[in-house]
Amino acid sequence: MQNCMGCHTATGGGIAGKVPPLAHSLGYFERVPGGREYVMRVPGASNSALSDQQLADVLNWLLMTMNREALPPDFKPYTAAEIAEHRRPAFADVAPRRAALVREMQRRGIREVAPVY
Ligand code: HEC
Repeated sequence: MQNCMGCHTATGGGIAGKVPPLAHSLGYFERVPGGREYVMRVPGASNSALSDQQLADVLNWLLMTMNREALPPDFKPYTAAEIAEHRRPAFADVAPRRAALVREMQRRGIREVAPVY
């Protein structure tokens, strides 16, 4: 609520044209190579004031409450150690990385994540 809601909104629905949704969307990133890392290194997550444990907890909460249908069956929750190892540096080139991930999702038949939000 204090660190993410201002942009992503309380429902995780995002803001059309500006901020992508986290609800019913983020889980699909866990299905493609590089997506798990993307979620940790996107600037809003990577640069947040949250500790590694807090970031792991909030990502797991988003994924397991708002993305159940999107997660791969073998999803393993993030750990603080994994976050510590991978969250930095934040991606400086988010847009092309996101676009490549969404293309890979579409190649696999996943159409729920919009290339443009
Ligand atoms: C200042 C606004 C802002 C804040 C605050 C913010 N985000 Fe974001 N977030 C964005 C934008 C914009 C994007 C799209 C990628 C980009 O341009 O960085 C994004 C993308 C993401 C993504 C990838 C989703 C996708 O579809 O690409 C995740 C995961 C994410 N944010 C998590 C968080 C978390 C967790 C927090 C709180 C700790 C947070 N964000 C705080 C603006 C924000």
